[in-house]
Amino acid sequence: MITAYCPVKGAQWGIAVKMDAEELYSPVNRQIILISSIIIVLILFGTFGIVLLLRPLTGALQKELAEREQAEDALRKSETQYRGIFNSASDAFLIMNLRGKIVEANPQASKMYGYSHEELIGLHAGKLIHPDYQHIFEQFKEDLQTSGEFYAESINIHKDGSPIDVEIRGTVFDFKGKKHLLAISRDITGRNQAEEEKRRLQHQLLQSRKMESVGRLAGGISHDFNNLLSAIIGYSEMAMEELPHNHPVREKIKIISEAGEKATALTRQLLAFSRKQVLELKAVNLNTIVRNMDRMLSVVVGEDVLLELHIKSPVRNVIADPGQIDQILMNLVVNARDAMPCGGSLIIETADADLDEEYAKSHEGARPGSYVMLSLTDTGEGMSREVQERIFEPFFTTKGLGKGTGLGLATVYGIVKQHNGYIWVYSEPGKGTMFKIYLPVAGGEVEEAGEKECPVVVRGTETVLVVDDEPTIRKLIADTLQPLGYRLLEASCGGEALQTGDTFEGKIDLLLTDVIMPGMNGHELADALKIKRPEIDVIFMSGYPDDVITYHGVLKRGETFIQKPLTPRRLALKIREVLDRK
Ligand SMILES: Nc1ncnc2c1ncn2[C@@H]1O[C@H](COP(=O)(O)OP(=O)(O)OP(=O)(O)O)[C@@H](O)[C@H]1O
Ligand SMILES: [Mg+2]
Repeated sequence: MITAYCPVKGAQWGIAVKMDAEELYSPVNRQIILISSIIIVLILFGTFGIVLLLRPLTGALQKELAEREQAEDALRKSETQYRGIFNSASDAFLIMNLRGKIVEANPQASKMYGYSHEELIGLHAGKLIHPDYQHIFEQFKEDLQTSGEFYAESINIHKDGSPIDVEIRGTVFDFKGKKHLLAISRDITGRNQAEEEKRRLQHQLLQSRKMESVGRLAGGISHDFNNLLSAIIGYSEMAMEELPHNHPVREKIKIISEAGEKATALTRQLLAFSRKQVLELKAVNLNTIVRNMDRMLSVVVGEDVLLELHIKSPVRNVIADPGQIDQILMNLVVNARDAMPCGGSLIIETADADLDEEYAKSHEGARPGSYVMLSLTDTGEGMSREVQERIFEPFFTTKGLGKGTGLGLATVYGIVKQHNGYIWVYSEPGKGTMFKIYLPVAGGEVEEAGEKECPVVVRGTETVLVVDDEPTIRKLIADTLQPLGYRLLEASCGGEALQTGDTFEGKIDLLLTDVIMPGMNGHELADALKIKRPEIDVIFMSGYPDDVITYHGVLKRGETFIQKPLTPRRLALKIREVLDRK
């Protein structure tokens, strides 16, 4: 129930009205219900409409979501793939920021530079570059900023300080949303070493070919020289003998003869270099040879140089001509002395040496096998690389005019090569020089060479058949032998000699023949003559024993050889030596 009271102005009373609440509110309630129903209906319709309207939109959203997921999936996959490549690459990958600080590196980078992954991250890339190549790093940054590309060969540095030859490629790329530099480094140390080795071997080959041709030239010259020298020395010697002791011309002839001797020594060196000397090979022991020469070598080096022998006793025997080994030692010792004008030390060493495949590969022309090594090490002035490359060339000398002929080492080289050996030089300017010689080992006992005495020329009465295409040589031989009592038969070629062999009725004791002649050579002549006259002795003579072609520079057993230039004395002695063998 709801009551309302209102006093009436000026009166003592008022009006009071009373009404049932339900009756009072019922029209209002009806309105409220109506409005609410309309609102609910409107909301329902609105929601339905919105749902209807939004339906295509949510589909697109879902699709987009699915696509995004797929893309992320693909990205993850490709990132895994790239990381796989990055991690397993055989080149070092370094990602750095624009200032050069490393932000990512692959395992190969750690392996190549010796730093752990943690150590690499944050390290400045300049630290990995050799101090002498820092400019390359600057170039790297500059090129990448300008052209976006970079390539160079350089030297990097390992954590332990050792240098690494590298080939570097660079590029710019976005990494974690920012511009970064990528350096891909490849270790080319091995490749460079292989190339260097190849270059060295090619150079060695070229060098030995050059020596070969110079050798042939030298051999050719010495052949002609020896024939001329035979006449000069031979007739000087004869003239001296014919002149009375106090004759004034004797002095002049002596000078001619001495000059001839010097020229002979020179020619002999040339022959040694051209490897055309006839070797008398036998098994010898280098220790014995070195010890026998010790006294003489000490005198040669002089008081200021300390000569030490480091001899590993015993060493195996080698196949060699002992006289030639003496010459090697002498030439090398004289050179060492000249390299130490203010004194120093010279060590001569011998040792057994077995050269393996590895050694042969790295030394042009060397064959693996058993050798004996002979080395001479001095503390002298040493040589530059340029000098070292030329020392074995004949006539190459750095010594002043009249001081060196430049044939010493050329001779040594020739002798070593003719012995199937090797010679190498190691030298540094200001530090010293080492020559190492390897000679092939022989089997069997050493034949020790006995003392040589100076024999007297003995006369003879035997018949000698002289064959030489050079009339001067035939005359020289006749002038030498006839006064000594020999009977001489002469021929200018093999055919003529064979004819003499057929027609001459008496015994021919000795055939003295040149080896290289037009037509039949000396060896063929000897063989043909021996068919009818098997008892005949043979001496081959030559200034250019290229007949060496037939016996490779070494005499066959039982054959005798005399080297031109001939001197009357040497010839007479050799003839007696052969004839007296019987
Ligand atoms: N032990 C050494 N130390 C430094 N340099 C050397 C040595 N041996 C040789 N040489 C250099 O090699 C060059 C050639 O030597 P080689 O023996 O062939 O000729 P040479 O000594 O000059 O003259 P020659 O020996 O004919 O009298 C020498 O001039 C010298 O420059
Ligand atoms: Mg010399």
